Amino acid sequence: MKSTIDKVLSALHKDAQKDYMRIGRGVVSSIFRPLQPSDFKNAYLPISENQGVTIRDLVQKHQCKTVVEFGTSFGISTIYLADAVRENGGKVITTELIESKAIQAKRNIEKAGLEQHVEVRVGDAMETLKDFKEPIDFLFLDGWKDLYLPLFKMLEPLLYEATLIYADNMDMEGTQQYGAYVRSQSQRYTSSMLDGGKAMLTKVAA
Ligand SMILES: C[S@@+](CC[C@H](N)C(=O)[O-])C[C@H]1O[C@@H](n2cnc3c(N)ncnc32)[C@H](O)[C@@H]1O
Repeated sequence: MKSTIDKVLSALHKDAQKDYMRIGRGVVSSIFRPLQPSDFKNAYLPISENQGVTIRDLVQKHQCKTVVEFGTSFGISTIYLADAVRENGGKVITTELIESKAIQAKRNIEKAGLEQHVEVRVGDAMETLKDFKEPIDFLFLDGWKDLYLPLFKMLEPLLYEATLIYADNMDMEGTQQYGAYVRSQSQRYTSSMLDGGKAMLTKVAA
């Protein structure tokens, strides 16, 4: 029998299948200027179900307790991560720029019964995570692509030899600087591609 969490995730993934219309509208509205996050305020832009299973398994297998997520959207990936920390007493700290998306994400997380495992910080992650000071066990990058590198550099002092970093959309142009930086630090980081080359998993050297 399907659990409440699985039912909520199935419903959200199903609704997200209509993203192509929402994305189309966002792209049209930005025709005379660069795209911005608010152009996608109605779109999930979620990870796939396979990716959800991957991140849930990674967090569970490595017993990650402090999970930081960049880019909540409507909470699909957050629910996978929160499901993973449910039994080890951990917490997901996630951050979303668009307030209406954060509000809906909180509702979805509550529907899944996972609210006590999640803290949603509303605003620009460069601000909302600025004062974060705990060692990070699992960092999930899925917000605005040009910010992967500055955000990663800001959080770098909190990474240690057990930290895992999962970065989605490594096939998109904005993430290339992040990829190049991590690969250039080969004594500190080792990376492999996952989920059909879409995502990159990085481990910190001991
Ligand atoms: C690809 S979506 C995240 C999808 C989500 N991780 C999932 O799988 O369900 C990216 C999200 O990052 C948010 N975002 C963009 N720039 C941000 C910023 N500077 N700080 C926090 N969130 C940001 C966007 O509003 C958008 O909802």
